[in-house]
Amino acid sequence: MDLYGQLKYRISEQQFAVRSITGKDVTKEYVEALMKQRAYLTNNPESITIDWQKRYVENIRRSQADALCGLFRTSQLIATAGVQNVRAGETTTIGIFVLDENARGLGFGKAVLWSTCHLVYEIYNVGSFEAGVKNSNVPSMKSFLSVGFGVKEERSDSYRFRLEINQLRKPENIEDVILDRTPCGISSS
Ligand SMILES: CC(C)(COP(=O)(O)OP(=O)(O)OC[C@H]1O[C@@H](n2cnc3c(N)ncnc32)[C@H](O)[C@@H]1OP(=O)(O)O)[C@@H](O)C(=O)NCCC(=O)NCCS
Repeated sequence: MDLYGQLKYRISEQQFAVRSITGKDVTKEYVEALMKQRAYLTNNPESITIDWQKRYVENIRRSQADALCGLFRTSQLIATAGVQNVRAGETTTIGIFVLDENARGLGFGKAVLWSTCHLVYEIYNVGSFEAGVKNSNVPSMKSFLSVGFGVKEERSDSYRFRLEINQLRKPENIEDVILDRTPCGISSS
């Protein structure tokens, strides 16, 4: 499903937007980043091509319950957030990914997580989110805790995090937030 709207804001004088990803946003850099991050991927083939990823993105857009958001600096895709079960009456889950390893640790994980939860709440009125995170993945755990998620369940090698939307905390470096509800030029690839 597409999120018909986008969130725009500034981080350190640079302009960012969070919106649904389309096939047109799938670049060589995005696919290379996915290939490097095999452990993070689910339902992936042995090797991902640009065409395979475009089809994957378009299939998510056609789905009734799942969404894929991108954090863009102008037109450059910096990070993604996948959201499952947005409208299915089940638990809504979310996972995050910063493409470039050199761009990690700079606040983009928190930014894409906060803004995707905010956008999905504003557009589909989703009031809670959950995520499963390996307890070895410190940047991921800290991203969830930092924007307001709490530990719902501790397992042997992972945590289940949960957020009630009234606990969502905006990262301090995000400024001048605008919710633009007009369809953001979304068309097929
Ligand atoms: C997990 C991921 C999205 C986090 O994004 P990020 O941009 O690296 O994280 P941020 O810079 O937003 O930092 C988030 C928090 O983690 C902390 N953090 C970031 N990198 C860290 C590191 N290497 N060691 C310890 N803490 C770290 C930050 O200080 C921040 O915590 P704070 O708000 O309490 O200060 C990113 O590292 C990534 O894409 N990893 C690979 C894919 C993955 O594991 N996804 C998660 C699956 S659930």
